[in-house]
Amino acid sequence: MNKYLIAGNWKMNTDIDSAITLTKNIVKENVQNNSVKIVLGVPYISIYEVFKELKDTNISVSAQNCNSEEKGAYTGEISIPMLKSVGVEYVILGHSERRNYFNETDAIINKKVKLALKNNIAPIICVGESLKDRENNNYKDIVKAQIQNALEGVESIENIVIAYEPIWAIGTGKTATSSQAEEMCCFIREILKRMYEKNAENTFIIYGGSMNKNNAKELLEQKNINGGLIGGASLKYQDFCDIIKCC
Ligand code: PGA
Repeated sequence: MNKYLIAGNWKMNTDIDSAITLTKNIVKENVQNNSVKIVLGVPYISIYEVFKELKDTNISVSAQNCNSEEKGAYTGEISIPMLKSVGVEYVILGHSERRNYFNETDAIINKKVKLALKNNIAPIICVGESLKDRENNNYKDIVKAQIQNALEGVESIENIVIAYEPIWAIGTGKTATSSQAEEMCCFIREILKRMYEKNAENTFIIYGGSMNKNNAKELLEQKNINGGLIGGASLKYQDFCDIIKCC
C-alpha cells in the first residue's frame, strides 16, 4: 500500500497545451515510487488528454468536482459516469472554493460522495475551518460536522481520502504549522475511528493550504499527515516533484 498520497489541484488553470506540457514534465521527472500515490487534479476539458499522457505510469487523474446527479437535464454539468469514461479515478469534493463561491452544502457534498463511491471513483473530501472559526476556537466542531455530514450513510471509509484544508491557509502563503496540521489530522482520524470499525487507521488524511517544496518535508513527517493537496505549487512541475520527493 502507498504510504503517501500527493494530489495536485490545478483549479481553473492551464489549457489543453499547457496541461499536456505540465503532465509530460511531471512524467519525465520520474518521481514515482512505491510509497507514494500521485494524483493530478485536472480541469475537465484536459482530463482525457492528460489521461492519455499517463497511460504507462501509476499516476492517476482526478476531477475537481462533479454533479450530484448521475444524468439528466442539467445543462453544462459533468456527471460521475462521464468522468469514469475518461479514466478519472479520484474526484475532489467539497473544496472550500466550491462551498464558498458555489454554495455547496454538506448535503450536496454527501450526495456526490455516495455517487462517486457507487461508480468506483475515490472522493477526496475537503474539510477545513475559516479564520473566524479558528479565532473563535470552534474549529474542531466545524470540521467534525463537515466530516460527519459528508459521510452520512456511507458504509465504509475504504477508498475515501480526507483533505484537511484550513481556509485561511489556501492560496495565502500562510501555511498551518506542522503541529496545527497534525493536531487536526489526528483529530480527524479519531473521528473516523469512532465512525468506522475498519480502515480508519489506513485512511489517507492529507493536508492542503500553501504546501510547498520548503515546508512539505516537515508537514509530511507528522504521524497523521499522509500527503498533500497542492494548489499553486502543483502548477510548477519542479516544485510539485520536489514535494513528491519529500515523501
Ligand atoms: P494552495 O491550494 O496550495 O494554493 O494553497 C490548495 C488547495 O486549494 O487545494
